[in-house]
This record gives sequence, C-alpha cells and structure tokens, in this order.
Amino acid sequence: MSADKRFYITTPIYYVNGTPHIGHTYTSVVADAAVRWRRLKGEQAFFLTGTDEHGQKVLDKAVERGMEPKAHCDDMVVHWKAMGERFSISNDHFVRTTDPQHVACVKAVLMDLWDRGEIYKDSYTGWYCKGCERFWTEKDVDDGKCPDDGKVVAKIEESNYFFRMGKYQQRLIDHIEANPDFILPEKRRNEVLGFLRKPLGDLCISRPKERMAWGIDLPFDTDFVTYVWFDALLNYISVPGYVPGGDDAYLDTWPATYHLIGKDILTTHSVYWITMLMAMEVPLPEHIFAHGWWLSTDGEKMGKSLGNAIDTELLSNEYGVDAVRYYLLREISLGADGHFSYEGFQTRYNADLANDLGNLAHRALSMTRNWLGGTTPAVEAPTELETALQTLAAEAAAAYAAGMDNLQFKQALDALWELVRAGNKYVDTTAPWALNKKGDTARLATVMRTVLELCNLVGGLLLPVMPARMAVLLGRMGRTVEQAEADVRALAAGDLQPMTSLEVGVALDLGEPLFPRFRKLPERIAALFGEPDEGKKKAPKQKKSKKAKEPPPPTPEDAIGYDDFAKVRLQAGKVLECTKHPKADKLLVVKVDVGEAQPRQIVAGVADVFEPEQLVGRTIVVVCNLKPVKLRGVWSNGMLLAASNEQGVQDLVGANCDPGAKVK
Ligand code: MSP
Repeated sequence: MSADKRFYITTPIYYVNGTPHIGHTYTSVVADAAVRWRRLKGEQAFFLTGTDEHGQKVLDKAVERGMEPKAHCDDMVVHWKAMGERFSISNDHFVRTTDPQHVACVKAVLMDLWDRGEIYKDSYTGWYCKGCERFWTEKDVDDGKCPDDGKVVAKIEESNYFFRMGKYQQRLIDHIEANPDFILPEKRRNEVLGFLRKPLGDLCISRPKERMAWGIDLPFDTDFVTYVWFDALLNYISVPGYVPGGDDAYLDTWPATYHLIGKDILTTHSVYWITMLMAMEVPLPEHIFAHGWWLSTDGEKMGKSLGNAIDTELLSNEYGVDAVRYYLLREISLGADGHFSYEGFQTRYNADLANDLGNLAHRALSMTRNWLGGTTPAVEAPTELETALQTLAAEAAAAYAAGMDNLQFKQALDALWELVRAGNKYVDTTAPWALNKKGDTARLATVMRTVLELCNLVGGLLLPVMPARMAVLLGRMGRTVEQAEADVRALAAGDLQPMTSLEVGVALDLGEPLFPRFRKLPERIAALFGEPDEGKKKAPKQKKSKKAKEPPPPTPEDAIGYDDFAKVRLQAGKVLECTKHPKADKLLVVKVDVGEAQPRQIVAGVADVFEPEQLVGRTIVVVCNLKPVKLRGVWSNGMLLAASNEQGVQDLVGANCDPGAKVK
C-alpha cells in the first residue's frame, strides 16, 4: 500500500431506473458526514458515489419510456446529481458505469481473468429472476418464485461465462474470521459467515445479447455482455485508476477504507466483490459497513415501488437540508433499521435543534448583545462551574470524535448533545439575567464568554453533520469555517484546551433563529395527510365531519401538484401508419394525427407486443410536448401512453374521440 494512502469511502452506485428517495439520501448523507469529518481532521480523503447504468432493470425502464438506454441514463443521472447537490454531498467524483474509463477497466479485468483461467464457459440450466437479475438453483426456488423478491422465476437454458468464485470460499472465510471488523456490524458478519457455510458456487458473469444487450461487451466474446453486478462493483477500483498489469498509482486511493452499503446488498459486496478482488490479486477493502433500512411506521421498507417513500425534497424545503441530515444521522445507529414519521421528525427537530442547540446559541448571542455591548467578552471571574463545564466539554468532544471516526454518528451526537444540554443548564444555574440586574458585569462576562465558547466548540464539531447551518452559527460569532476547523484539528492533536478559542472584542451578530420552532406540521406536510389548515378548522362543516378523523391515504413519494401534471400536454391521436423500426427489433415507427397540420412521427418500444398493422386506425393518447429525440437514428416527436405490468406492455391507452382532443 502506498505510504500516503488516503481515507476512501464509497456509496453503492444507484440504479437509474428511478429517482432518489430517503433510503438513497441516507446512504449518501452517512458517507458524506464520514468524509467531511476526516477532511476536518486534516486527513486526505476521497469520496466516490455515482450511478449503476447497465442491466435489465435500466433497459426495461428505457424501453418503457421509449428511449435509447444511454439517453435514458443521461436523463436520469440528472436527478441523482441533483440529490447530491441538494443534500450538500461532497463527493470527489461521480462515476457512471457508462463512463469510458470504467468500461475500459471492466473489459481489461475480464480479459485478464479470462487469460488466467479464472473465467470459463459452460452451458447452464437454471431459474432466473428478471427483477433481481440473478440465477437460482432448484433448491433455492420456492414454489416457482424468487426467494428474494417473491416474483415468478423463469427456467432458462443457455451458455454463459462463469467466474470461479467457489474456489475462494475458504480464503474468504479465513479473511472474515481473521478480521473481526471487516464486515460491520457484527450481525451482518455472522450473516455472511452463515451464508458461507453452504458450498459456494461459481458466478455467472455474462448475459447473452439476444436476451439482454444493455451492458459492457465481454472482450473475448461479443455475443455476450457483462453481468451488471460484475460491472458495477468494479467502479470502486476503476475510478482510482486500476488497470491489470498497470502501475501502482491506484494504490494512493485503493483499497477502500469503507464500502458503505445497505443490508440488502451484503452478499454481492462481501462475497462476489471480495472473491473478484482475490482473483484480481489486489488488496482487499478495510471495512464493509451495511446500514439498515428506513421503514414506514407500519414497518415496511420504504421505496418508490412501494409508494411509501418519503419526499426528502419536501422535508428539506420545509425544515432545511441540515435538519434532514442531522435527523438521519441522529435517529438511528448505523446498522439498525429506522421508522420514519413526519411527527417523529418534527419532535426531534424541535427538541434537539430548535430547543437545545438553537436556544443555546440564541441565549449566548442575545444576552451578550443586550447586556455586554455585542462583542466577545473576557473571562473575568471564573468559578468551578466553568471548570466543570470545560471538563465535560473535553469528554464530550473525545466521545464525539470516537463516534465519528467509526461511523457511529448517533453515539457521537448523543455525547455532544449532553454537552449542549449541560450548556443550557449552566445558563439556568448561573442566571445571567440576575447578574445583569445586580450589575455583576465581571461574572456576567465570564458566563456569556463560556456559553459563546461552547457554541463555537459545538459549531466546529458539527460542521460535518450540518455544514451550512454551522457555518452560519460560527459566522455570527465572527468565526470563519477555516478557523473552526483549525480548532478541531488542534483539539484532536491535544494542542488546544476546549473552550479557549475566541478572541475578546469580536462583534457578534444575533440574526434570525438558527432553527425556527414548528408549533404544528408545516402546511405542505400536513396537506399530505389531508389535515385542515387554520381557516378550514374554524368551519363548522369540518368540525362535524367524521371524515377528518379518517387515516390519511398513503401519499406517493413522487406526489406532484396539479400544476406539475398540467405541464404534460396529452392529446388524442389517430394512428395513420405504423412500420417496424429499420434498426431496432423492439421499436415501431408510428405516424399519428394529433389534430395538427402534419401527422407526427413517434418511435415506440412496443414491437414485442403489437404487429404494426394492429395499431393502424386506433385512437390513442399521445404526450405532445415531449422534447423530440432520435431513437436509433429515427426522430421521435412525442410518446404513446402504454399500460404495463410485470409481464410488460398490456395495451396502449386509448381515447374514443376525434384526433387532437385534450386529455386531462
Ligand atoms: N446498483 C446497486 C448497487 C451497486 S453497488 C456496486 C443498488 N442500487 S439501488 O439504487 O437499488 O440501492 C442503493 C442503496 O440504497 C442500497 O444500499 C440500498 O440498501 C439503499 N436503499 C434503498 N432503499 C432503502 C431504504 N428504504 N432504506 C435505506 N436504504 C435503502 O442496489
């Protein structure tokens, strides 16, 4: 390993078959807080996130949208980058598995493993789950259904390429046993060891193009593409610059210090990835940390397809991005599942941020302004109360640092909040208002300086958790982020006593409350539950209505207002002509009269389901204001609406009326 190896943390790369929800935001925020903490301590660090763009799931979505897969990915990746920007995710690089450097690395690794006999070709009969994109053996399949997602599996017989994963089974077990903190938390380590008690088979790493062509070509047989996981996992090492037989520069970054993952992708990371690395003969990552899931209050995993995902955009618009980051890190220990409710969120926000921290800052700034002229006062009359608080501060800062070092954010924040609460208690005990009244300025100055120091210390330590709000807090005390960071570093090195950082005479700025208190749920959130707003509450009809007490219907995570819906121009269109796409088996080229001067040409991914002549004469619903795109060389100006389920497209959406009629 290179001498100046940096701290390296990764998130899973996200599938571009949907848009981000709270589960994804969680993974990204956790990784971000960890890396910000390392940078704050002065360590060299590298943070990688990105998108997983190949494979069946993504292809299905592209076809459903009538788009070329790459164009679909280009379109979807915007949402994932926007999630990062919104939540202050400070990744150093954003990888896409369609990036040329990644593709080249995957091909080079495959070629190397093939040359060294680690990959072989075999014919195979087995059960295949399309949703999970994996094969199952007879004994895994439960009543014709996939053991993971419960969906019907298909019997498949085909030739494929296999990676000799099984031969690394014992080495993998030995490594996990010799390194107790390799897979964290311990429960997940035991789960993997349990899985490895059964014989480990080889891994099918190819998909015949005739079945699924959206992937990276196998360099030694271009009738096949690479299995999406074999491709995706390599992102962690392709970005640092690994090339088989190449130089060692990638070791400045690789191996990963932490692969942060969700518990649902434990096997792919702990077994597939690690055995791949063993075969590649490169160093192994230091830790794989599997976090838990965010569940709805009724205990279901949150997710887009389940329709119960939380709209983190709405949440951050109402309470602020940093409040969401704080909540995600504070609410559950990393590794445990968490239950999300808006009420629970607001309760924690009010208690921890508005009351504890916000109140402490407000007291420090407002009392100093009101009674001491608004500049940092000098310590003039210290007592043992101040010494005790300083001791507590040193302990809390150390406990916080230990938690942050090990991704134990909840424990870190618990320790720091003891200090914040002690700070408020200190204000209650010393009663600055009474000191002011009796004119004891020396003691008042000491008390206010102590509270300001506490705010400065806490503000600096919390920068990785709430970067924007803490910068504001520090700024109000005349401190720059750089100064606060230097303090944290000096503190960690034992070169600074906590709470001895401020300079006398610096102008303070009270400003607006850092975390305004919420007395009731913000209107836009209450509206999700159909709760009446103030005006309606007074209306007698509402009071009497029994319906108001009914539980709210579930609100989809991707709920939109009517205004957003109205942006989509839907019109009835009559199909005049329909032909097969000259270059793509799955596409039809349709000429549709939507009541305009000329018929429109639309390319639709429904050739699997309809013969061209079946569509001629039908009146269907068309999206008329979609940006025109070229699909495999043919312009498509609009989109047909199709109803689909797991078996694929069932029918086109029809309209029994004249062409051009508006659909709304
Ligand atoms: N593309 C793969 C990962 C490849 S990594 C080489 C994938 N993508 S994903 O988009 O489906 O999921 C990414 C991460 O989001 C996973 O770690 C998953 O656990 C996490 N979450 C998705 N829903 C979640 C919750 N409801 N709660 C917490 N995290 C969950 O898997």
